[in-house]
Amino acid sequence: MATAGKVIKCKAAVAWEPNKPLVIEEIEVAPPEANEIRIKVVATGVCHTDLYHMFEGMHKDGFPVVLGHEGAGIVESTGPGVTEFQVGDTVIPLFISQCRECRFCKSPKTNQCEKGWVADSYDVMSAAESRFTCKGKKLLQFMGTSTFSEYTVVNQIAVAKIDPAAPLDKVCLLGCGVCTGFGAAVNTAKVEPGSTCAVFGLGAVGLAAVMGCHNAGAKKIIAIDINPDKFEKAKVFGATDFVNPKDHNKPISEVLAEMTNGGVDFSLECVGSVAVMRSALESCIKGWGVSVIVGWTDMYDFAAKPIQLIAGRTWKGSVFGGFKSKDGVPEMVKAYLNKKVKLDEFVTHNMTLAQVNDAIELMKHGKCIRTVLSVSQQ
Ligand SMILES: NC(=O)c1ccc[n+]([C@@H]2O[C@H](COP(=O)([O-])OP(=O)(O)OC[C@H]3O[C@@H](n4cnc5c(N)ncnc54)[C@H](O)[C@@H]3O)[C@@H](O)[C@H]2O)c1
Ligand SMILES: [Zn+2]
Ligand SMILES: [Zn+2]
Repeated sequence: MATAGKVIKCKAAVAWEPNKPLVIEEIEVAPPEANEIRIKVVATGVCHTDLYHMFEGMHKDGFPVVLGHEGAGIVESTGPGVTEFQVGDTVIPLFISQCRECRFCKSPKTNQCEKGWVADSYDVMSAAESRFTCKGKKLLQFMGTSTFSEYTVVNQIAVAKIDPAAPLDKVCLLGCGVCTGFGAAVNTAKVEPGSTCAVFGLGAVGLAAVMGCHNAGAKKIIAIDINPDKFEKAKVFGATDFVNPKDHNKPISEVLAEMTNGGVDFSLECVGSVAVMRSALESCIKGWGVSVIVGWTDMYDFAAKPIQLIAGRTWKGSVFGGFKSKDGVPEMVKAYLNKKVKLDEFVTHNMTLAQVNDAIELMKHGKCIRTVLSVSQQ
């Protein structure tokens, strides 16, 4: 390609500081270095974790930054030492890497590769290094990916090659939200056939968890949200019962205990609130109940009574649904193409990168499940 080896000037949505609208700027994207790939981003979803960084976490060292971590695109050029990818490959950048060599990658128990951004920077949510500049300043690459940019550079250990037949404006959702929720149910909770489940929070992550419970054969799936507009969509993904905590004047765990003869077998927290995490734990049954934390926050400590765990409940957390990313994402793409998992139903809005602030507003006000932004022409 004519651009290989050269700096590319392109459009990106820059978050100069927390709590302010993003600004579409012309940025410079350096060529890929050793073992890196430069990707033309075609489509990206907007996930709540982008909003968390902007409006909730607001870590001062995490700006200026290019957000976005749920994208799909095409390889524009490759750096020295890259053999696994060719120009023109269809790919999904990964916010959690899979180097296949570290002790975590070698263990079947976890997807926490120690080579990725995640290894040392949960608060800043970016590595110190970046291939982006704008107006003479370095821009951070959010979660190592930065998909709110026409081009991005990612290490090859954090890229999945996918079936070129896959529609990128749908499979981009497998870069975060859908794998996260689905995998939390299937891989982390290990939902069993015939079981009873509760999912707290019905954004894309929670709805994907509902779909995971359904695909795993759960017989009762209770969908919980304070926004009742979400219930109709939850039914599409397999929810059987619907609870709005605002309709009850007792703790939600008591409501669920009454509905399920003592509590659910599996509960999944997909909100990012420490109070909801506690409710989700208390909603599962003593003896064998498993509660999984999926919602993202490191701002507050949580609390629970030790007896909850002493009595036999298990409390777990899940990043990216426990999927080993490079292996899991292409398999999920295949599952979508074979109609084993749904993706189209998550997309409630389509916009362009220039409309990213409108997409953020929709999510802030609970008016969308996922907005997919078209970033470049394929
Ligand atoms: N662990 C991971 O790897 C990972 C990956 C992606 C996203 N996340 C996190 O998952 C969470 C959900 O993301 P999303 O994109 O689906 O967000 P979203 O904003 O689309 O959905 C959140 C939902 O929670 C509901 N909610 C809010 N307060 C509630 C309450 N008290 N009880 C019940 N429901 C409540 C909202 O009405 C909304 O429907 C966020 O915290 C996000 O940061 C985690
Ligand atoms: Zn996300
Ligand atoms: Zn690794």
